[in-house]
Parts: sequence; structure tokens; C-alpha cells
Amino acid sequence: MYPKNIREMKSRTVIILIIIIILFIAIQFVRPERNSETVINRNELFAQLTDVPTVVRTSMLSACYNCHSNRTNYPWYASVAPVSWMISNNIKSAKKKVNFSEWHVLSADKQHHNLMEIVEVLEEGSMPPTPYKLMHPPGNLNDVERGVIVEWVKSYSERIKGN
Ligand code: HEC
Repeated sequence: MYPKNIREMKSRTVIILIIIIILFIAIQFVRPERNSETVINRNELFAQLTDVPTVVRTSMLSACYNCHSNRTNYPWYASVAPVSWMISNNIKSAKKKVNFSEWHVLSADKQHHNLMEIVEVLEEGSMPPTPYKLMHPPGNLNDVERGVIVEWVKSYSERIKGN
């Protein structure tokens, strides 16, 4: 038999583990609202632009749209709290800055401002955020893809300014 104090320690560990498991199950009932609009909004960035290079469109869809649009493609672990809460908060703050699903409702000035910020984050490599790149390999844009998006964003912003 173990000495009494070791037995006490073991039963305390078991109680703590049980409490953690119960808490983990309990928080699963707090489910954030899903960011899954079913229709493609006609104010979506690409919905009104017909001449966008395919690589720009597909790269932005896989690297940006999961956070910066109304249509997130959720991985399985996004259903598990507290990860689901973190993802939901992330999407909310991302959409506050730039929401590609509601792009064409913005004024030309605001669009232009956003496009300049997009160039900036792409050139510094700060978007998509590192945890996203680690968990979601298609979000890992290479230098060529990043360069093509930057070129397209710059030419699009010139067009907006000219209007
Ligand atoms: C995993 C979610 C996620 C992905 C994917 C993502 N972003 Fe973001 N983005 C955010 C969050 C969160 C913020 C807001 C940060 C803040 O409030 O400080 C943000 C902010 C921004 C901003 C505003 C920057 C600023 O300084 O205010 C731009 C521009 C941007 N993102 C562009 C992009 C582009 C372009 C892509 C794709 C190449 C992308 N993001 C992918 C989460 C994401």
C-alpha cells in the first residue's frame, strides 16, 4: 500500500481530472453563431469583377476568405470549444477590417484604403496569420502567388481611383 499522503494526492488528482472533463463537456454547449451565409452575396468582391486572374481568385479564396467573408469553410476542430470561440472572435475582428462579401457596398475611398492595406499585409507577409498557415496549408501563399495578388490589387486600385 502507498503511504496515506500519496493516496490522498492520487485521489485529489482524479477529482481535478473529473472536474476538468466536466468543464470541458459543459463549455461545448456554448456554441458561437456560424459564419456560413448560404447565398453568394452580389456585393462580394469577385461577383462583380469578371477579369480576375484565376490564381488571384483561388489564392484569396483559400488564404483570406475563411476570415474575411461571410462564408467560412470550417475544419472539424472548429466545432470544439474553446477553439470554436477563438475562431469566431477572429472572424468577427477580421470582418470588421475587411469583409470581401460586402465589398461593393463600400465607397471608392474606403475600397482604395482597404486595397492599400491588403498590399501592405501581403508585402510584409503578416496575412494570413501564422497559426492559420500552420493549420491550413492551402493558406500558405508562396512568393509568386503573393506577388500576383499584389500586382492585381494595385491595378484594381488604380482603376477605382480613375473612376
Ligand atoms: C485566420 C483568420 C484570417 C485570415 C485567414 C486572414 N486574416 Fe486578415 N485579419 C484577421 C484578423 C483577426 C484581423 C484584424 C486584426 C486586428 O484587428 O488587429 C485581420 C486584419 C486584416 C487587415 C487589416 C490590417 C490592419 O492593419 O488593420 C487586412 C488588410 C487583412 N487582414 C488582409 C488579409 C488578407 C489579404 C488575407 C489573405 C491573404 C487575410 N487577411 C487572411 C484574420 C485573418
